[in-house]
Amino acid sequence: MSARLIDGRKLARILRDEMAPRLAALAERGITPGLAVILVGEDPASAVYVGNKIRACEAVGFHSRTIRFPAEVTQDELLGRIVSLNADPEIHGILVQLPLPDHIDMARVLETIAVEKDVDGFHLYNVGGLVTGSTIFSPCTPYGVVKLLEAEGIEIQGQNVVVVGASNIVGKPMALMLMSRGATVSICHIHTRDLAQFTILADILVVAAGVPGLIIPQMVKRGAIVIDVGINRMPDGSIRGDVDFEGLKEKVAAITPVPGGVGPMTVTMLLENTLQSAERAAGIRSEGIEDPV
Ligand code: GUN
Repeated sequence: MSARLIDGRKLARILRDEMAPRLAALAERGITPGLAVILVGEDPASAVYVGNKIRACEAVGFHSRTIRFPAEVTQDELLGRIVSLNADPEIHGILVQLPLPDHIDMARVLETIAVEKDVDGFHLYNVGGLVTGSTIFSPCTPYGVVKLLEAEGIEIQGQNVVVVGASNIVGKPMALMLMSRGATVSICHIHTRDLAQFTILADILVVAAGVPGLIIPQMVKRGAIVIDVGINRMPDGSIRGDVDFEGLKEKVAAITPVPGGVGPMTVTMLLENTLQSAERAAGIRSEGIEDPV
């Protein structure tokens, strides 16, 4: 059997195209969705991610602003800029690219972002909302995975889901979002003993471990759905996911490629969150969330 390919680029294109009439409705009210991205320091990977986000904004016609600070920026200066962006009517979404230098209190930074502009979904309110079902913005990568599963017609309710990776950005919110959709979720992490005894049970396996090729065919159930969130740059410059794609594709029912799977969806959900924020500011959208989490 050869697995069905879950094409994140294609779904991302469809979702971005579907934004056009919503942008037109906002334009009639004189509003262009605006995203501010704050980049601290010179981390090359962060610079690439920020560049992708800004280019995506330009491609769909959003207003965007990149705010760069040197690694030595003081916490007060950073917080001050966030406070002024919170009050800026041209900006509907604020994103602080992580990681931040050690002398900056990341939690303090994330909590300074106005909840209604927290399009990354990292503010404590939005994180807590994942538990209680009152989140305003879901974090972009897990939100993108849910959209992929839904678009593929993959049932979540009642399925055994195993999430490999327990980060605040992907693993933990992913587990909560799938649990609230009725899945039975196990979270595995760096201290998990015998990872395979968990992964072999998964109907849906989501891998966000940051370890290239971690998941090999013997670790998955025949016919499983595999979502690879890993983006690992190899010494030869190529990008590789966390799963052995070539090995798994003969065994599983459906699988995301890397690149071209989850990656394009992450940026698209950032655009979606920013658009929702602009719609809320325009009074077009009143509810807190697009779909109950
Ligand atoms: N660093 C790695 N992933 C992310 C992300 O999704 N958002 C932000 N702000 N920083 C990141």
